[in-house]
Amino acid sequence: MSESKGKIAVLTSGGDAPGMNAAIRAVVRTGIARGYEVYGVRRGYNGILNKELSLMTFHDVSEKLQHGGTFLFTARSAEFGEEAGKQKAAGICKELGIEALIVIGGDGSFTGAKNLSKYGVNVIGIPGTIDLDIAYTEYTIGFDTAVNTAMEAIDRLRETSNSHERCSVVEVMGRSAGYIALWCGIANGAEQIILPEKFDNNYDKLIEQIRNNRKSGMTHQIIINAEGIGHSYGLAKRIEEATGIETRATILGHLQRGGSPTARDRVCASVMGAYAVDTIVKGGRNRLIGYKNGHVYDIDIEEAFSIQKSIDDYEYEVAQILDARCDYSK
Ligand code: F6P
Repeated sequence: MSESKGKIAVLTSGGDAPGMNAAIRAVVRTGIARGYEVYGVRRGYNGILNKELSLMTFHDVSEKLQHGGTFLFTARSAEFGEEAGKQKAAGICKELGIEALIVIGGDGSFTGAKNLSKYGVNVIGIPGTIDLDIAYTEYTIGFDTAVNTAMEAIDRLRETSNSHERCSVVEVMGRSAGYIALWCGIANGAEQIILPEKFDNNYDKLIEQIRNNRKSGMTHQIIINAEGIGHSYGLAKRIEEATGIETRATILGHLQRGGSPTARDRVCASVMGAYAVDTIVKGGRNRLIGYKNGHVYDIDIEEAFSIQKSIDDYEYEVAQILDARCDYSK
């Protein structure tokens, strides 16, 4: 057997996202193919602090690709959040001879990785979050599956809302970002979308629109409310009291994070997982993997943090044109 090129480790951190398993599998198998020993770290950064890691074989990642969640488990580590925790983790990586640590997670996990890199650990990040709220990349693992899950749920909600001639407020995840809400707004043909990036807090205007929609003959309405706005039960009550239209609130919650990943999530996660290993092979240090103009690429972690993004204005305009507010025929 040929000599190992070195040790790399992989962990998942923060909220799980469908497709994380596909990314782990790609890291393990590409790592082995390129001559590395690949260690799976359990329970995020806690797993480094507690030395919960084991050497992975090609077969250890069999039958994982099609499942949501993360078989390495995930956690938000309080100890790692402290400076002393990061220092300890860096010391353990050094002691174990880990040449590079691949972190699959969202913004918070990448902040942890960036800070860890200051103690000499080579960190490579793969964006895994259903929220799509990482600026340097057009794609984050799990978004596609989560949007499809929410879309199917909202289609179902529309049927019961229609039957009862109700107004339905449906809250989708996204933390402080409105990408899932915007996409569902377009995909479900919602009558209104309320996004943290765009909402002007004018609830009177929103309620007036719901009233007008009803007057114009609309028997039921779907209002998609982003998690970053929240208070969906209160909003439903307010709408019902102000308009007399029976209104119900549904919070889709964590069910949006589960389920078998879509083909897009499986493929993009696999490509980014492999690319993360190849970035190490090329000698890359402290890089984040992402998609730009439809292609996989890598970017310096500090530079990635300086990039900002927000909701696409044109997509938002499209959502508004296609909703009930703009019936240009009248
Ligand atoms: O970041 C993913 C996400 O699902 C957010 O949309 C949500 O705000 C958060 O995680 C929920 O976190 P937890 O699983 O800790 O409740």
